[in-house]
Amino acid sequence: MSSASAASAEEPAGVAEVARLLAQAQRVVVLTGAGISAESGIATFRDARVGYWSQFDPEVLASPQGFARDPGLVWRWYMERYRGLLNSVPNRGHQALAALQGALPQLTLATQNVDDLHERAGSRDVLHLHGSLTAFRCQRCKRPHHLSSDDPLAVTPPTCTTCGGLVRPAVVWFGELLPDAVMQAVWQATQSCDLFLVVGTSGVVMPAAALPALARSAGATVVEVNLTPSEVTGDAHHFLQGKAGDVLPALLAHMQT
Ligand code: OAD
Repeated sequence: MSSASAASAEEPAGVAEVARLLAQAQRVVVLTGAGISAESGIATFRDARVGYWSQFDPEVLASPQGFARDPGLVWRWYMERYRGLLNSVPNRGHQALAALQGALPQLTLATQNVDDLHERAGSRDVLHLHGSLTAFRCQRCKRPHHLSSDDPLAVTPPTCTTCGGLVRPAVVWFGELLPDAVMQAVWQATQSCDLFLVVGTSGVVMPAAALPALARSAGATVVEVNLTPSEVTGDAHHFLQGKAGDVLPALLAHMQT
């Protein structure tokens, strides 16, 4: 297949050039946001119509204070998302990133997403900056909790079998610290990569939003894939406008030509 035949109607300008840079890169970091999972039917946060934060208050549903005030409300919201995740499958964007990891000498994949669609697509060692919606722990003693078959439909959170505390999803809530080891690994990889690819994030939540600029200041080429310009577009050398599920497979196709 030639470069020209790999191009398609959905392909934005610059794909062939970025594919060339990717093929030459020794160390790549990919940072994903909710946009990569949108084509799997998972809602993003800031879409004006269907984004979670245009319908719900993050202080109520995604903070320790909100959980303390109304644990049942928070549990039901996360369980609705959890059940939705069980019915979702990885899309072409997730699959392309997994294939890219297999094709490159070193690719570190960091995500702000709490879903497990990267793993289910075959990506390895995914760094979850904001925790995971498929893991649960006691709010009080922090011991892991394994969901029973009844838990996803319960109206209140289960209690810890060890200390009786309330069980919560192992996600990072507003006001909480990001997991230290994950953050350090992402920071280190970002400072030493030669290409940083940011996909499907509005780039408004710190510290993840600072990573593209950090990579650029350390000398990396920064590439963004997004439907629309974001808060980190100014940090990018290349902006590939389009759906992750179209642009990422197109990048891969060009690399294979
Ligand atoms: P946002 O909802 O803020 O942004 C989603 C981004 O994805 C937007 O820039 C969209 O233009 C883009 N997008 C949507 N569909 C796309 C597609 N098919 N292909 C490519 N891009 C697409 O989500 P995040 O930036 O991930 O944190 O939000 C960051 C954090 O804010 C989340 O992790 C969450 C939230 O509060 C916590 O819960 C701690």
